[in-house]
Amino acid sequence: MSEPIPLIQLTSLSKTFNSKAGQLSVLRDIDLAVNRGESVAIVGKSGSGKSTLLSIIGLLDDASSGAYHLCDTEVTTLSHYQTSILRNQNIGWVFQNFNLVSSLTVQKNVEMPLRYNKNISKSDYQNMALTQLKLVGLEDKAQSYPDQLSGGQQQRVAIARALISNPDVLLCDEPTGNLDSENSDQIINLLLKLNQNGTTLLMVTHDMNLAQRCRRVIEIKDGTVI
Ligand SMILES: Nc1ncnc2c1ncn2[C@@H]1O[C@H](COP(=O)(O)OP(=O)(O)OP(=O)(O)O)[C@@H](O)[C@H]1O
Ligand SMILES: [Mg+2]
Repeated sequence: MSEPIPLIQLTSLSKTFNSKAGQLSVLRDIDLAVNRGESVAIVGKSGSGKSTLLSIIGLLDDASSGAYHLCDTEVTTLSHYQTSILRNQNIGWVFQNFNLVSSLTVQKNVEMPLRYNKNISKSDYQNMALTQLKLVGLEDKAQSYPDQLSGGQQQRVAIARALISNPDVLLCDEPTGNLDSENSDQIINLLLKLNQNGTTLLMVTHDMNLAQRCRRVIEIKDGTVI
């Protein structure tokens, strides 16, 4: 059997920020491959470039040089429009601060990624949102607003929202960073359950509890993988 093609493949990827103070080299010659179904934690000191790396992988930022293949597409050559389509279809994002819309119900937050998809009817995306909320154990909170939920519950809503478009990979930047230990444990267990059911997980974390439970831990130091 031939080797599987990695879902994510970075080759000699670098990122430099330009500012008035000069150039800041944040990522240098990163080589990284993530296969479908893996769970990978990225760890490293504050300022080492973890979030920058995740933003590039999640198509929120561009690399300065090097190659990035996502699902066998070389993304550094795509237009903005093509990139946005790839991002919407393939990437689920979970952030430390949940990033929910406070004026919308839980149900509407989860529906959000599908609301502008002309191929999916309103009743379909409403049902899909309820299915995702059931998966994270929050169907009874569908009509609540984010500020009526605990931090752990809000993060579960964010995970439901990230999963509704059935992305190839779930990218999490400090998913337990704002949670107490009990809520952190719930989120860790949920993420690992999703991974067991096939979701590829790539996350940045300071939480060694979480990192150790991923199949692979990658450490970034001074902008390179060590
Ligand atoms: N848009 C930007 N413009 C200029 N410099 C930036 C920008 N974004 C990040 N940086 C710099 O890049 C470096 C890496 O930042 P990054 O946010 O990736 O670190 P991190 O490893 O995620 O840190 P933390 O653990 O604190 O979240 C830092 O020195 C930061 O100041
Ligand atoms: Mg960060």
